[in-house]
Amino acid sequence: MRIETKRLILRTPRKSDWEDIFEGANDIDVGKNLLVLPYPYRKKDAKDFIVSCIKKQSKKKPTDYDLAIELKAEKKVIGITSITPSHEDPKVGVTGSWINRHYWRKGYILEAKVSILDFAFNNLKMRKVETTAFVENVASNNMSRKLGFKLEGTKRKSVTCRSTGIVHDENIYGIFMDEWTARRPMVIKSVSDKIKKYS
Ligand SMILES: CC(C)(COP(=O)(O)OP(=O)(O)OC[C@H]1O[C@@H](n2cnc3c(N)ncnc32)[C@H](O)[C@@H]1OP(=O)(O)O)[C@@H](O)C(=O)NCCC(=O)NCCS
Repeated sequence: MRIETKRLILRTPRKSDWEDIFEGANDIDVGKNLLVLPYPYRKKDAKDFIVSCIKKQSKKKPTDYDLAIELKAEKKVIGITSITPSHEDPKVGVTGSWINRHYWRKGYILEAKVSILDFAFNNLKMRKVETTAFVENVASNNMSRKLGFKLEGTKRKSVTCRSTGIVHDENIYGIFMDEWTARRPMVIKSVSDKIKKYS
């Protein structure tokens, strides 16, 4: 699996990516916003994660895509983004992501999510894509709204963050293909502006 954008390559993680993934994920400011990332995040966690991604994505008909976000200019993996079917309905995709803190606020996740949403609707033929965010996670809630996701509700004290043990209220977001089609040009413009600003 490989998708190329202006600044990024989204692809199946490789064994040689472990140091980059370890560097980005072994950060409590990343882990405290995610459900299942352990902290400390060990080298073995990065290596095991890569093996499981390769296994899932080498199936005849893969369904679970955890993709490395490679920054072309540095040939470095700066984060992970995913699209997987929800447990309730295989035609509903669930997306999540993290970016290494040294690369925040440059529009990289917006750029990656354009491809993830296109892939979910056009290739995987998903009916809907969902994402979640702890209510306190300003960056993630803003990112979802910016992409055009609609807030569908808040589940109260419904999840426990693995790295901190904190119980969170969780916002649930969803987007349909027609909503993404309408929103896409605005997101593309925002990514182009960021590319100009940071190049
Ligand atoms: C959330 C996260 C993935 C955003 O990645 P990023 O590459 O820095 O995001 P972008 O630069 O593409 O920004 C996209 C939009 O997200 C929002 N955003 C991102 N960081 C923000 C921040 N620190 N404060 C407020 N809004 C923020 C903004 O709406 C931004 O658009 P804008 O810059 O035009 O206003 C990153 O902060 C991260 O990895 N956080 C820790 C893990 C996490 O929260 N993952 C998501 C869990 S559901």
